Amino acid sequence: MTREHWGSRLGFILAAAGSAVGLGNVWKFPYLVGQNGGAAFVVTYLVLVLTIGATGMLAEMAIGRAAQKNPVGAFAALKGGFWPVTGYLGVICGFLILGFYSVIGGWTIAYTVKMLDGTLTAPGLDFAATFSSFVADPVEPLIYHAIFMALTVGVVLKGVSAGIERWNKILMPTLLVLLVVLIARAVTLDGAMAGVEFYLKPDFSKINADVVLAALSQAFFSLSIGMGAMITYGSYLTRDQNLPRSTVMVIGLDTGVAILAGLIVMPAVFAFGVAPGAGPGLTFITLPGVFQQMPGGTLFGAAFFLLLLFAALTSSVSLLEVPVAYLMDELKVSRRTAVWVLGGIAFLIGVPSSLSLGIWADFKLFGLPFLDLLDFITSKLIMPVGGLLMCLFAGWVVWPVMRREATNDGSVSFRLLPVWNWLLKVVAPAAIAWILIQGLIG
Ligand code: PHE
Repeated sequence: MTREHWGSRLGFILAAAGSAVGLGNVWKFPYLVGQNGGAAFVVTYLVLVLTIGATGMLAEMAIGRAAQKNPVGAFAALKGGFWPVTGYLGVICGFLILGFYSVIGGWTIAYTVKMLDGTLTAPGLDFAATFSSFVADPVEPLIYHAIFMALTVGVVLKGVSAGIERWNKILMPTLLVLLVVLIARAVTLDGAMAGVEFYLKPDFSKINADVVLAALSQAFFSLSIGMGAMITYGSYLTRDQNLPRSTVMVIGLDTGVAILAGLIVMPAVFAFGVAPGAGPGLTFITLPGVFQQMPGGTLFGAAFFLLLLFAALTSSVSLLEVPVAYLMDELKVSRRTAVWVLGGIAFLIGVPSSLSLGIWADFKLFGLPFLDLLDFITSKLIMPVGGLLMCLFAGWVVWPVMRREATNDGSVSFRLLPVWNWLLKVVAPAAIAWILIQGLIG
């Protein structure tokens, strides 16, 4: 079977950006900012994205394109030995994330419906209470989780087709425009300025080991690196793509959307008197309030949650594609079988995740409810460790291959090549190791 490839250079950028831009930007980033000291977290995050994040993303794209294989096969083809373990970690991580990601993806469907049927536009509604009773319900969120997973399965079944590339091309710019409109409304709410200040004026005394670890894990999660998603997408690349330039574009889009999302949520948090540390509900609690205070808010609200659903879907598609590519390449399973089996298992993983916000809230493993435990294991452990191993691999083990990929055999100039090499070999691994040790043990 010949390997599938992207239709165009732009197709790859869109798919990679589609993978990166998702719930991590609009749902997770704002609440992490709220929990981790505001602007100080934002600055820490930006520093880590531009150094470790960019380094890792370029390495993953290069590894994938060089090997033309799924993460496990890629490490095996380029070197073998111990290294495929890194790929296995990624494959497992992909569908652990998918399990809880699909639950949150389901919330975006629910909120689109609830905007349209008037549930979220009733005057005087307590949005915090509405959100907590929705997620705690033992049935309703599971139905939406099932719908979201079915949509993901439907897309991946067809291959990452021209369809999803074309949708991205329309939906991503629309999402950006809507974000900007919403910022205009959010920053002009009464009392919004306290939120803008919290978001943009750093108080560096707030930075500690926990904050840095949270920023690092968010950088991996949001950029979709550390678990092989970019290796998988890179493996569908042909040789004419300029990888450093693609890295800059994907990182720019991803970071831009996250910063804009924070600029809507944070002013609204302060204007409506919500606690910034409220956690995973933050975006879902504050945004309906913003919509309520806008002319045409119902439509804006429904459109917004619908676009968020599409952003989430282009990410969940890449999450599922990682283990699917593995089963197809290595075990010669058909795409159909791989997608149904893995989608089904991921759905089952989502069930306890969703219930852990309601009737199973008291059932804890290692002191964490199931959803938080999955989030912790994937984004605070596997992705940083995976990223660390990939950097070491790229910098020390297959550097000549990396140099060739990043410069297209010397035909495009990449002036930061020596800097990249040094980041891969020493700076990124040392920084990741240090942050992990401080954050987990210190
Ligand atoms: N980057 C996605 C987001 O921010 C999540 C994701 C992580 C997707 C890892 C693929 C791989 O929502």
